Amino acid sequence: MRIMSTELLDGRTCLMTGSSRGIGLGVARALTNHGGTVILHGREEKTLRSALASLKGLGATHILAADLSDHDGIERLEAEIARCFGTLHVLIQSAGILGLKVPLAEYPAEVWGEVTWSTTATPKGCDQPFILHKDAGER
Ligand SMILES: NC(=O)c1ccc[n+]([C@@H]2O[C@H](COP(=O)([O-])OP(=O)(O)OC[C@H]3O[C@@H](n4cnc5c(N)ncnc54)[C@H](OP(=O)(O)O)[C@@H]3O)[C@@H](O)[C@H]2O)c1
Repeated sequence: MRIMSTELLDGRTCLMTGSSRGIGLGVARALTNHGGTVILHGREEKTLRSALASLKGLGATHILAADLSDHDGIERLEAEIARCFGTLHVLIQSAGILGLKVPLAEYPAEVWGEVTWSTTATPKGCDQPFILHKDAGER
C-alpha cells in the first residue's frame, strides 16, 4: 500500500496516547508520515521501545510512559512534555481498555471504573489536560 506523505505537521509536536500498539500506533505512523514530531505513549516502557523500533526511519519519534488512569501519571506526562518539547500542538487520545464484552446490565461494578475513562475518551482526572499552546489551532 502506498502511503501519501506531506509536510502538514512539520514542526508540530503530537502526543498520540495509547500508541504503543493497536489503533494508536497506526495513527502515530500516519502522523510521522505528515512530518509530525510524534510522542508515542502507553504504560509499558518495553512495548513503547518496540513500537519506536517499528517506526524507525519514519521521522522524529519519542516515547513517554505514563498511566492516564492515575492523576500523578497525567501530571508526570504533562511535565515531561513541557520539559522536552515546551509546547504540544496535537493531542489524539487512544489510550484505554475495551473491557469485558458482556451486556451493560451484567457489567461488574469493580471493572466498570477501569474502562469508563477510556470509553468517554477523556482520561479520568484529565479534564484540564496538557499544555496546548495558545497558537495550537493555527493550522
Ligand atoms: N480495537 C477495537 O475494535 C476497538 C473497538 C472499540 C473501542 N476501542 C477502543 O479504542 C482504544 C484503542 O483500541 P486498541 O484496539 O488500539 O487497543 P490496544 O491495542 O489494547 O492499545 C491500547 C493502548 O492504550 C494504552 N493504555 C491502556 N491503558 C492505559 C492507561 N491506563 N494509561 C496509559 N495508556 C494506556 C496501551 O498501552 P499499555 O498497555 O502499555 O499501557 C496501548 O498503547 C481503546 O480505548 C479501546 O477500548 C477499540
